[in-house]
Order: sequence, then C-alpha cells, then structure tokens
Amino acid sequence: MSRDQQSFVSSERSPVWSPLQVGAYADYLALLSATNPVVAVEDILARDGELLLTQASLLDQKSIVRLKNKMLARPLADSIRIEKTITAGDLLQHLLDTIRSTEYFQSLAERKHPLSSLEPVCAMLSDLPLVQQFLTVMAAQMNDLYHRTLCVSLWSLYIAQEMRLPAHDSGEIFLAALTHDVGMLHLNPQILHKPDELTADDWQHVQSHVDISTKILRDIPGVSPAIVTAVTEHHERCDGTGYPFAKVESELSIPGQILAVADAIVGIYFNRFKAQGRRWREVIPVLEMNRAAYLYRSCDIVTTMILRSELPLPNLVSGSGVPEFAERMLQQNLHLQNWFTQLRECLTSVGYTHGDRKLHALQNVVLHIATTFKGSLLFKEDLRESLESMASEEADSISKVVADASLVQQEMAFHLQRLSRMMQMYISSGEGKDPKITQRLQDGFTKISGYIGSSTNTPQS
Ligand SMILES: [Fe+2]
Repeated sequence: MSRDQQSFVSSERSPVWSPLQVGAYADYLALLSATNPVVAVEDILARDGELLLTQASLLDQKSIVRLKNKMLARPLADSIRIEKTITAGDLLQHLLDTIRSTEYFQSLAERKHPLSSLEPVCAMLSDLPLVQQFLTVMAAQMNDLYHRTLCVSLWSLYIAQEMRLPAHDSGEIFLAALTHDVGMLHLNPQILHKPDELTADDWQHVQSHVDISTKILRDIPGVSPAIVTAVTEHHERCDGTGYPFAKVESELSIPGQILAVADAIVGIYFNRFKAQGRRWREVIPVLEMNRAAYLYRSCDIVTTMILRSELPLPNLVSGSGVPEFAERMLQQNLHLQNWFTQLRECLTSVGYTHGDRKLHALQNVVLHIATTFKGSLLFKEDLRESLESMASEEADSISKVVADASLVQQEMAFHLQRLSRMMQMYISSGEGKDPKITQRLQDGFTKISGYIGSSTNTPQS
C-alpha cells in the first residue's frame, strides 16, 4: 500500500451510499489537483447550509479537510472543475494506444473492426462533461482500472458490432462500458488494495460499486435509462449467480449481458492470465465452461473473434520444468476433489424444500460445477496416470490433453473459490430463512474454510 493510500481518512463504509457524502473521490481529486488543478466552480455547502469552501477555491489536501465527514448540499462532482479533462480526442488516442500495444486487438482491428469506427463513439464524450471528469480522475488515480475500462469498452463495442446491433445501440453499450466501474472511485482504497484475503464485509463493500455507479449515472443528463440498466446488470449472470439482484437471463437486458461478458473476459485475462504470460486465446475454454452464466450468442461471438485473430496458444511449460509442473498438478487435483466433495456435501445435505431463493442459487452453482467438471477429464484415471508418468520419467514436454486439463483445473479452483465466498457471504448476511439450515451451513463452512485462499487463483469482484 502506498503512502498516498494510507493518507485516506474519509472512506468510512456506509450501508447505503449517497452521492452527497464525501468519501474517497474527494481524496482522489485532491491528489490530482497537485498536477492538474481542481477548482470549486461554486460555493460548496454542507446539507445544513454551512459554507465549506468558497467558489474558486483550489481543492487540495489542505482544503478538503473541511469537507471530511460532511453530507453536502450537492454532489461534489457537480461543484468542481478539473483544469484539463480527457476529451473525445484524448479518449480516441487512448483507445488507439491500447489497440496498438495489444497484439490481439491489433489483429482484430486489421481484420474486421476498422479504427475509424471508434471516432463516432468517442465523440459522444463531448456532451458528457461529468463522464469526462470521472474518466480523468480514474486515468490519473486508478490507471490500471482505466486501462481495463478501455479494454472492456473495446470488447463491448466489437461484440455489439458483430451482433449487427444498430449504431445507436452499439454507441450506448460503449458508453455503458466506459462508465460501468465509476463507482470504484468511491470505494475505500484500503479495502481495494488490501494485501490479505478480503472478508465477507469487504466483498460486500467492493460489490457496492455497482449500486454507486448506478446512482451516479442515473443523475447525469444525456445518459439514457438503457445505459444505466446495462451498468446495473454488469455483474449479473444468466444463471442467477450474479449480483446485486441474482437476476436470471429472462430478466436481463441485451446491453447488460454484452457488457457482462466483456467485463468478465477482461477480468479473467487481467486477474488470472496476464501475470502468468498467458494469452487471450486461453480465455476460450474458461468461457466454454461458464456458458450457463452468459448470453450464448455473446459467448459464441467472443470465441469466434478470438479464433479469428489466429494468434497461437503458447506452451505452458517445457524442458526441465515439466516433472515439477506434473507433480503440482497432481497435488492440486487431489486438493480440488476434496474441496468440491465437502462443498457439495454441505450445500446438498440441507435439502431443496427450504424456499430460499439465494440458497437455491448456491445449490445451483454446486450442481453446475458438478455437471461441468464430472464430465471433464479432471477426475479420470487417465489424467492421473499421465501426470504420474510425467512427474517420474522426467518428460520435457506436456501433451495437449494435459495442457487443457491444466486450464480446466485452474477454472475449477476459481469456481470453488467463488462459491465458497458466496456461501460465506450468504451465511454472514443473516438473510437465511431457517436458522437451523444456516447453522448447518456454518458448521460445513468451518470445515472448508481452510481451502479458501490456498488455491492458485485469486478470484476478483
Ligand atoms: Fe464492476
């Protein structure tokens, strides 16, 4: 954690976020102001009428102390101006830089998606000064999130275009993608950058970014209800395992589901693949295994787009690293089987007649994992035999079957981690209808809690 992050003092959690409260966003503005002045364009008043900052004041580390822990008369974003904000031209340049620095996007642009198609969607930014402000703060203070946002925006636009949606709809989906995570600018940075495993409360706080993004966007003139809905739905999943409302496919909008799959593949790539030197091509088996969660058509389109790029699948390991790789896979395989068996036992032993929608969603996830992975080669004797021979005979390369099994294994670890976390949140939320069932789940969870955080994957929001 950097010193800047430690200096945040105004990021207390609130169960219901209000655009009038002063939180992390004020700290980000003050930090930005050191290089790109942020000035009050009107007197900034507290909700009770107290004058906090006069018009033309500079928002810096010193002056924002007066805003701390106050509820304002108007949202802070409406009362300030940043000297240099990201323009439509800047956004276009940032997208072009992203494409040119990413082999995969470059290949797509050359084959099917000309760079000229970006100009009209970027031009929409000119009429949305508040969105310009949020992107400016994000680019300066949460640059990694800004870069991911650009990638999600490109993917969303490309999927919409491949679906042959009208240009107006594709533009709205692009704008929804550009703004979907603005709520992150209001979260407690100490939780966002926490080095330890997040608690259930922490996850709830992180997940609240959806509600915050929704509240911010619905008050911006020029942002349509379709854009707001897509943003609200970007973490929902077609099989009811998403948040905040656990909606199912028939309740979700097409723009929301395009944004959801775009956000998901960018998350998979950046959170789990990029650091390991893995490539976009490897997203395909992950997507295939999660088809129930996403709109079928959008999954097909993403797979086709990635394959069309014709970029090769790299070797996972070769030479002297192979026996050790095989031994690690064997150990993880056993670990995953034990974890899965205990999770399934815990969630299915409480029966299915409880009438609790959230508990049904958890049980559906464990059944989905069972169906997906029982049929795969993960639990088959053939894989174990191949790995044992690779571990003992000092092989110097791995077969395609083992390479695919490695991807499936990592995917299973991710799913078990995610389900364990969902179960933990369900238990601690106190929303369970039957205290006896909740207690049984708590007892079962105690047994599996040792598995959480010990897999090779770190799930993200
Ligand atoms: Fe998000």
